[in-house]
Amino acid sequence: MATATKVILVTGASSGFGRLTARTLARHGHVVIAGMRATRDRNAGAVRELEELAAAESLSLSAVDLDVQSPSSADAAIAEIAARHDRLDVVVHNAGHMVLGPTEAFTPEQLAAVYDVNVLGTQRVNRAALPILRRQGSGLLVWVGSSSTRGGHPPFLAPYFAAKAAMDALAESYAAELIRFGIGTTIVVPGAFTSGTNHFAHAGRPDDEATAAAYDTHYGEIRASIDQRLADLVPPDADVQSVADEIARVVGLPDDRRPFRTHVDPSRDGSEVVSVVADRIRVEFYRRLGIEELLPSHAAL
Ligand SMILES: NC(=O)c1ccc[n+]([C@@H]2O[C@H](COP(=O)([O-])OP(=O)(O)OC[C@H]3O[C@@H](n4cnc5c(N)ncnc54)[C@H](OP(=O)(O)O)[C@@H]3O)[C@@H](O)[C@H]2O)c1
Repeated sequence: MATATKVILVTGASSGFGRLTARTLARHGHVVIAGMRATRDRNAGAVRELEELAAAESLSLSAVDLDVQSPSSADAAIAEIAARHDRLDVVVHNAGHMVLGPTEAFTPEQLAAVYDVNVLGTQRVNRAALPILRRQGSGLLVWVGSSSTRGGHPPFLAPYFAAKAAMDALAESYAAELIRFGIGTTIVVPGAFTSGTNHFAHAGRPDDEATAAAYDTHYGEIRASIDQRLADLVPPDADVQSVADEIARVVGLPDDRRPFRTHVDPSRDGSEVVSVVADRIRVEFYRRLGIEELLPSHAAL
């Protein structure tokens, strides 16, 4: 990516990390498109707020309607960005949704829905956006992962954690398959941020309430307090802005200096150690396969 100013799509930018990331990247001088679903109704206020900020601070920051669960929405959003800006340099896969409850009490359809947002959503956006990035011969995918995929995972969040693990695996393989097109990959790995985003507040619950209630006799207190127990690990100075700042830092680095994976985890759940080991194993395995050229440069690892 030669230009310092990049055209960047952030998915799920109506709240939380996505909202802050869109603003932060725009304040760094980038052309930012904040993907949001329901821009005409539920998120109309978020769009207005963003437009007011853009006007007040003279930022290149605008919204596009993007529901990552709809292929036609993903296609239309990317087509609109291409029409408006004639290129796309960075996609920040941020949209996501969490659920809380005993695993057994979620219907298979609920698991599929969680997978749909967190995993298939990235695939829909990639299939719409990557042809542009491949044509350009440059670009960057930033995946907002989760430290849960590296070990920091308590019970009663399984459908979400399973989906984030799937997303992470997808991101790793994509990285190797895109590097020859000049497209880089960074997985930004937040630990738990129990306040400052809607992640916990909007968490879904199991549809099968009877089965969920059956867990109360053995797990009632733990189940009810799991989010509080996570919150208790988060230091008071944890700031959700740190995730947005890290994404902006990564985007601003030269292509050959970007980390493949970077953790932002105020609770220090230990997942970073697992990442170092797992990424070393991957490097060694790629070497044994004779495909180490598909890895990011050594400096970046
Ligand atoms: N907070 C944490 O502890 C934490 C830790 C690790 C990773 N993460 C990840 O960080 C990302 C952002 O989460 P957050 O903490 O900032 O929570 P958040 O405030 O709930 O943000 C989630 C965003 O995703 C959007 N979204 C959900 N479904 C969508 C869809 N179908 N199409 C488009 N957008 C959709 C939401 O939009 P609506 O407003 O329309 O619902 C919202 O803007 C997620 O991928 C999450 O897995 C969070």
